[in-house]
Amino acid sequence: MARKPITRFVCTQCQAVFPKWNGRCDVCGEWNTLEEETISVTPNRPQGGGGAAAGKPGRLITTRLDGKATPPARIETGMAELNRVLGSGLVPGSVVLVGGDPGIGKSTLMLQTTCALARSGHDVLYVSGEEAIDQIRLRARRLELDGDPKTLERLELAASINVADIAASLEEVKSRKVVVIDSIQTMWLEGVSGAPGSVSQVRSCAFELIRLAKTQGFALVLIGHVTKEGALAGPRVLEHMVDAVLYFEGDRGHQFRILRAAKNRFGATDEIGVFAMTDAGLREVPNPSALFLAERRGNIAGSAVFAGLEGTRPVLLEIQVLLSAKSGDGAARRAVLGWDSARLNMILAVLEARCGLKLASMDVHLNVTGGLRINEPAADLAVAAALISAATGQPTDPNTAYFGEIGLSGEIRQVPQTGLRLKEMAKLGFRTALLPRHVGSASARPKAPAGLQLEELGHLADLMKRFASPAKKTAEA
Ligand code: TYD
Ligand code: MG
Repeated sequence: MARKPITRFVCTQCQAVFPKWNGRCDVCGEWNTLEEETISVTPNRPQGGGGAAAGKPGRLITTRLDGKATPPARIETGMAELNRVLGSGLVPGSVVLVGGDPGIGKSTLMLQTTCALARSGHDVLYVSGEEAIDQIRLRARRLELDGDPKTLERLELAASINVADIAASLEEVKSRKVVVIDSIQTMWLEGVSGAPGSVSQVRSCAFELIRLAKTQGFALVLIGHVTKEGALAGPRVLEHMVDAVLYFEGDRGHQFRILRAAKNRFGATDEIGVFAMTDAGLREVPNPSALFLAERRGNIAGSAVFAGLEGTRPVLLEIQVLLSAKSGDGAARRAVLGWDSARLNMILAVLEARCGLKLASMDVHLNVTGGLRINEPAADLAVAAALISAATGQPTDPNTAYFGEIGLSGEIRQVPQTGLRLKEMAKLGFRTALLPRHVGSASARPKAPAGLQLEELGHLADLMKRFASPAKKTAEA
């Protein structure tokens, strides 16, 4: 029996569903976000399946927790940085959403990946709803991806937005191991209301493609655009439907691109992949620290090197601070790029209250170089060092790197993975590490790698002491 079409309204911001249109969403309070959705199609059931899938009620089979469990198979993508973020490759039958701002390099990343997959013998389908075949070919030529016979044989290109066509082709040719859809917002399914990109279209198209991936066992990569606010444009509901969500981030003015997992059913979510966008496409960056520090200029006040951690990977970064006299009558400006402005305010408050360093009358600009965004409280000590250095006009030692969390009483607190951070410092030729004072058993005290000297700090005042006061410096001059 055919189902009667249902009309309902879905908020593009929060996905709340209403029976009637309203100017404002009652759930999230946004204006003009309700979009009409007509549900008239019953999604196809997998054919030939047994049990409930075939329409018959099945019996629920339950089992014990301690049975045999095999880890999922993986398809090596040929891109080490991507494999790392996925957790050693794509899982057959899984669905990965790759989000990111327009122009950040999602299509480039996936074109390079599909070519690498084809080169290593996997059948791959790349469907573009955004670009014509000519454009894709020209890009591939520019990236010198079109010369390898194996790639040409294994990689199929298509320009289409019609999900029914794509589905028909996928039902017909079952050898494909990986299918890339660029982008899900351009896809369209007949019988579903709304234009491509609307909640109902995106959801229905994704549902149909995901169903095919699950029944046929190919890995599906959906590319999606993200708005400035960081939400996947329109249908955030996709995040719940897929197995992994990766964000491709970076500043378009910078070379660096970071691939970060926001969700991963088959691996950790704290790994990052680092790439550099060059004239010849994306280059993988196996040693990000060296690259992030490459343009560092010594002997400038207001800069300090932070020994950070992204996932299991240590990364050394430069933190820069610029102080200038407050402009205007209002509160001083706190401009922060790549870090948390609330945390900067906290450190400024602690510096004033516990060490007497007053910066309330100064505008503070803080920048993490390279366009990377850090979330770790471990960066506190390096930020404080950069602030004190800027305030006193004394450069930090170029061979010193910092890490440690700062508490409200000015104490320097321990952070995880000291050993990894120290090893990375030593590897890059740093000679001194300023780190939190060790508490706990002496046997657990971190060991210094060869060539690196450890200097433990218990309180922010100990850090202040390492810089002469501005008055003393002028007196000496
Ligand atoms: P693209 O992959 O089209 O971005 P997205 O799919 O995320 O919208 O990449 C767009 C930008 O990347 C474009 O502005 C130019 C730049 N780019 C390079 O710098 N070098 C290259 O080799 C390529 C292919 C692109
Ligand atoms: Mg694109």
